Amino acid sequence: MTQIESEKNLSTIQNLPKHLGIIMDGNGRWAMLRGKRRIFGHETGVLKARELVETCVRLRIEALTLYAFSAENWSRPAKEVNGLMKLFEKTIEKYTGLLIDNRVRFKQVGKRTLLPKILQRKLEQMEAITSQNEGLKLTLAIGYGAQQDIIGAVKHIIDDINQGKIEKDAIDESLFSNYLSFNHLPKLDLVIRTSGETRLSNFMLWEAAYSEIHFTETLWPNFEEQEFIEILENYSKSERRYGSIKKEVELKKA
Ligand code: IPE
Ligand code: IPE
Ligand code: MG
Repeated sequence: MTQIESEKNLSTIQNLPKHLGIIMDGNGRWAMLRGKRRIFGHETGVLKARELVETCVRLRIEALTLYAFSAENWSRPAKEVNGLMKLFEKTIEKYTGLLIDNRVRFKQVGKRTLLPKILQRKLEQMEAITSQNEGLKLTLAIGYGAQQDIIGAVKHIIDDINQGKIEKDAIDESLFSNYLSFNHLPKLDLVIRTSGETRLSNFMLWEAAYSEIHFTETLWPNFEEQEFIEILENYSKSERRYGSIKKEVELKKA
């Protein structure tokens, strides 16, 4: 597809997701298939993430959340973990200007205190510099796990009850959501996972309750804009019923 054709396709998509989550998986396998070290796959994955951010900016998608490192990924060999931490640090440095120019608002979710101090500082700086931006809300999940986030919320709620800030009976889905890391974002409409694995691997479990989920065999470093557009076109045709029934069925019966 040429750039012009792809622009045309983009402009005709009616119903874009407000909040898109991506599980960027398959970097290691992509590198191994080429006889390279896994970190080369992660480096190439970063370039793909950059392309995707630019596409989302162009499409005026409100929020994009990228799963870069899970709470469980700490169990990988130290060499890979250290390589990834260094890569995150370099990436943030390299793309600060790009995010500012595109008015992107950046935020990290996940247990920050476990990250190297220098990375913590860079993340804080990036959040501060972009905090007034009104473009794409870009969230990077590093050291994030949905179960850990939910447990954190429960503990926080118990503290607030003990301090008399909220009543137990006031807890409902909406209040609970406010205690989670994604409380600043619209509801999660679409999750894409690359690399053929058909699981969520502890990504946004609460938020994905009614999300569309798209699994693709493509390894993350091979993920192209054309495939992304096809997924968005597919999404735009889906009818989300939230447990109810089709509108026409309801009308015919009435
Ligand atoms: C995803 O790619 C990136 C991270 C989890 C950091 P993987 O590193 O999981 O790649 P595969 O699944 O081994 O191919
Ligand atoms: C999920 O991928 C985490 C990220 C993409 C950051 P993993 O490769 O860690 O997931 P599993 O181990 O296959 O479930
Ligand atoms: Mg993987």
